[in-house]
Amino acid sequence: MPNPQPPSRGLTPPGPRAPRALQTARWIARPAAFLDDAARRYGDTFTLKIANEGTWVFISHPDAVKQVFTGDPRLLHAGEANVVLLPVLGSHSLLLLDDEAHMAQRKLMLPPFHGERMRGYEETMADVAARAIGRWPSGEPLPAWPTMQAITLEVIMRTVFGVRESDRLERLGDVLRSSLAWAAEPRRMARLALLGPRRVAERGTLRKVLGPTDELIYEEIRRRRGAPDLADRTDVLSLLLQARHDDGSEMSDAELRDELMTLLVAGHETSATALAWALDALTHHPAVLQRLREEVDAEQDTYLDAVVKETLRLRPVIALVLRRLIEPMEIGGRMLPAGVNVAPCIYLLHRRADVYDNPRAFRPERFLERPPGTYTWIPFGGGVRRCLGASFAQFEMKVVLRELVSRLDIRAARPQPERRIRRAIVFAPSRGGEIVVERRASEREPAVAA
Ligand code: HEM
Repeated sequence: MPNPQPPSRGLTPPGPRAPRALQTARWIARPAAFLDDAARRYGDTFTLKIANEGTWVFISHPDAVKQVFTGDPRLLHAGEANVVLLPVLGSHSLLLLDDEAHMAQRKLMLPPFHGERMRGYEETMADVAARAIGRWPSGEPLPAWPTMQAITLEVIMRTVFGVRESDRLERLGDVLRSSLAWAAEPRRMARLALLGPRRVAERGTLRKVLGPTDELIYEEIRRRRGAPDLADRTDVLSLLLQARHDDGSEMSDAELRDELMTLLVAGHETSATALAWALDALTHHPAVLQRLREEVDAEQDTYLDAVVKETLRLRPVIALVLRRLIEPMEIGGRMLPAGVNVAPCIYLLHRRADVYDNPRAFRPERFLERPPGTYTWIPFGGGVRRCLGASFAQFEMKVVLRELVSRLDIRAARPQPERRIRRAIVFAPSRGGEIVVERRASEREPAVAA
């Protein structure tokens, strides 16, 4: 994008000199290697040029990251940097808002995601996981990802959308799956880049694809508004329906639709991928898996919590977050020009040897020795934009992993841990976390006495 400031108001730091198209190709094909190379060559701060994404200034020093996360949100716009999501999420989406509109919407949406509330979802999460695990065929190598995806989708439909009836769950699941698959296709991404998100949002094809999904969501909102037990319900939609803006007004149907889509898109593929990474890491570290099983069997969850945190450190699902600079700003000792996207890099920060001892090792114990730092463990971003579902996602990961290791024996399908590939915006395991499962002795049918 054009830089509206004269160069004296800041310069982008050095970075690879390859043309934008080549940098884009490397970013798409081998993103992690591209970031590693750039960090090796240029250090804590460097500039990448990615097609249609403007200029990204990567930062990975904790002090610079802290500066961005605690900086004035009016000058560091995340919503503007996320505009590519507009066609699917809609203009009310929390992810796309900035300034007062963002703060007002976030204030309404925070309470349902408060850490304490998560315990109320535990039974649903465990039931959904146990049923999916029960259907998992034994003895053959299978990617964990589709099962994890099915679990996280159903968990969101039940706990966030608050749908309980099996026929409605099935209908909603079908339309959500097909519109998400449609939006994630690389061809669509290319068209989005070409036309720009605002024009795509207005086009008929998109409306046709999203139409059935929107219809069901609006129907759910209408039904719930009139539900006699609304005040007693604990799902996120029911809580949002009862929330009020500062002026006493309630959220409109359009706002609720956009936020439900946002929670679905932000919450289900990320959590499923994080779970697939956890299984990839656990099955390639038998001593960690063994300790986890012992602690889960003893109904302890401190080590389980450390396993989740270490997975999100070493295998972060989202590699970076973005903030568009509205004015020139000094960050990490450099004056950066307005208009660039500053990118606190989760992936690089989590692999720093000056922050983490032996950073490439999968060692959950490190989080038993020292709790994660606000500006050094950032899988959920930070500041006023920190992931709304951070407690939800970690809680869900713990519940699902607990169900898994207590019911199944799991082992790796191949000797090496999986590579990272980029799927839409997430870093995912190249084979979807391929593992082999067997029912644990306690889970098998009791032998029939002869
Ligand atoms: C392992 C799973 C997840 C990961 C790694 C993850 C990561 C992130 C990251 C990196 C951000 C951007 C933060 C920033 O810009 O500083 C974010 C934002 C967000 N996430 Fe998550 N997320 C996960 C699960 C969830 C879940 C389960 C939900 C809800 C059900 C959710 C809802 C959101 C929302 C609404 C935002 C936007 C917050 C805002 O702009 O104010 N996420 N997430």
